[in-house]
Amino acid sequence: MDQVLVTGGTGFIGSHTVVELQNAGYEVIIVDNLSNSSIDSISRIERITGIKPHFENLDCLDYVGLDHVFAKYEDIKAIIHFAASKAVGESVQKPILYYRNNVNGLMNIIDLMPLYGIKHLVFSSSCTVYGQPDTLPVTESSPIKPATSPYGNTKQICEEIIRDVVHSGSCDMRSIVLRYFNPIGAHPSGEIGELPVGVPNNLVPYITQTAIGMREELRIFGDDYDTPDGTCIRDYIDVVDLAKAHVVAVKRMLEEKQEEPIEYFNIGTGKGISVLELVHAFEKATGVKVARRVVGRREGDIVKVWADATKANNVLGWHAETPLDETMKNAWKWEQKVHGETEKKKGKE
Ligand code: UFG
Repeated sequence: MDQVLVTGGTGFIGSHTVVELQNAGYEVIIVDNLSNSSIDSISRIERITGIKPHFENLDCLDYVGLDHVFAKYEDIKAIIHFAASKAVGESVQKPILYYRNNVNGLMNIIDLMPLYGIKHLVFSSSCTVYGQPDTLPVTESSPIKPATSPYGNTKQICEEIIRDVVHSGSCDMRSIVLRYFNPIGAHPSGEIGELPVGVPNNLVPYITQTAIGMREELRIFGDDYDTPDGTCIRDYIDVVDLAKAHVVAVKRMLEEKQEEPIEYFNIGTGKGISVLELVHAFEKATGVKVARRVVGRREGDIVKVWADATKANNVLGWHAETPLDETMKNAWKWEQKVHGETEKKKGKE
């Protein structure tokens, strides 16, 4: 069975991807330092698929530790590199942490890959590399704009490092770079989902935590933008659909179907949704009201961005499939489950 090493495999997108990889017949090795996720992900993944992934509690900054892992598993055919810090605001406060984690982590991985004859790398990138695009929807050949945060800059730098290494010919490396739009939702089983530490930064966890009563109200950051209802527009992609894009990418690499040694794909629905529309979609799907108030704009927010996902549709044969109301129902199911479990734990203490 082909082995796939997944860094950051206990995290939000990582855990959903591990499930889909296992469903597709791959043997998965997770490398994660649990800095922003829980060890419970392993048993949750096992509950969904019936298969326990290998797990190595390790930081990607630990070169020697990674070397041991690469040596221990002899059939690693591809690596999916998720492990990274991802909070935009925090990256402005702690740039060194972000450059170290995100850039050095990738450097360690690509330094070791050729030593173990591993050719294939799927890299977790972001639509943040496009900044505020001049034309919408964004295609893969839209210009890369100067990053607006250290986090965004790390994604750009990592893309450039991969490009240079692949093109250098110094080793036989191939890569698929997936540029995610806004991943939301949870697994339909309710077993895995997004688990933000502290107060959520992102919209959907904030909506679900408000709906369940953990937060008083959702603050909508600005309704005076140049959009139909005045709130910002994003392309919200279901996390299970996003996870499946990684499986397709791995398969394409292993079957040596790449047309270029490095390929870029936008992973989104192709549809722009405003903040208000998303709140309404949640309320409609779940029947639960979300208390909200419009406040000032959040610094650094892009006004509108959505994907042209035609390349992923045609070349990868991948499509966003899950309807928004189902994604919202899954996010809500997960919130209820996590909240219930947390309350139960508190009750026992
Ligand atoms: N928003 C609110 N209230 C909130 C949270 C968000 O109104 O409490 C609005 C934001 O202003 C924005 C939209 O909801 O208009 C989406 O915001 P998110 O924070 O969910 O996501 P971003 O589009 O800001 O994307 C950021 C990074 C991406 C990264 C993504 C997920 O720019 O690179 O978070 O981590 F992929």
